[in-house]
Amino acid sequence: MQVFVIIPAAGLGTRMAPQGAAAHAPKQFLELGDKPVLIITLNKFLQVPRVHRILIAVRKNETERVQAQLQQHGWDDRIAVVEGGDTRQESVCKALRHLDAADDDIVLIHDAVRPLIDSATIERTIDSVERHQAAIVGVPAVDTIKQVERTAAGAIITSTIPRQHIVQAQTPQGFRCGLLRRAVEEAEADGFIGTDEASLVERLGHEVAVVPGSPKNFKITQPGDLALAEFYLHQE
Ligand code: C5P
Repeated sequence: MQVFVIIPAAGLGTRMAPQGAAAHAPKQFLELGDKPVLIITLNKFLQVPRVHRILIAVRKNETERVQAQLQQHGWDDRIAVVEGGDTRQESVCKALRHLDAADDDIVLIHDAVRPLIDSATIERTIDSVERHQAAIVGVPAVDTIKQVERTAAGAIITSTIPRQHIVQAQTPQGFRCGLLRRAVEEAEADGFIGTDEASLVERLGHEVAVVPGSPKNFKITQPGDLALAEFYLHQE
């Protein structure tokens, strides 16, 4: 059994720029300390000996930039750069097609913009996939979660979801390759677009286990997140 990793890194990072500001470099290419976010994320997976191969999905016009960053910060034979797509799901789908993996091999998907993941959580996710076939990292919700209906003025609450039933999904999200391939094929056939891979596997009626994560493993999304990530990174 081998472990593969897909890092979707083809996002445009449009939420990063303050409103009205000029377009930013996508957040996965911004510098955090002395390295780009993507390289820091990648290094976390390279530190795990069980990881056999890592595919990074990027936009076609970013391929050169990424190759250059990889050369500068230490190329590893386990890494390959592939072309991503217009949605995160499409980026993962396209990378999956490049994966020379058996159905019972494991594939982990991890956002390029979560550089604060740690080896122990990656290892626990792999262990959980070995047991359950599908597992994701998640953290309990600390806020009270409301279901709403959107209105022109904002939103109106329709219900309160008991907090003990809520987990906020993070990555890595790991699956047996055969299971994820089947989930992706079904989603494509039904025209379903999910915001994570677990939602595709849930649609098949397959159980997905949750591995406890940390709020530190947040997704760099908005202005200010980079400074917070830098603060945490100094503590590692
Ligand atoms: O947009 P979101 O915050 O969900 O992005 C999560 C991850 O998916 C990021 O690493 C981003 O680069 C990646 N992504 C992608 N292809 C897209 C959109 C997002 O690989 N078309």
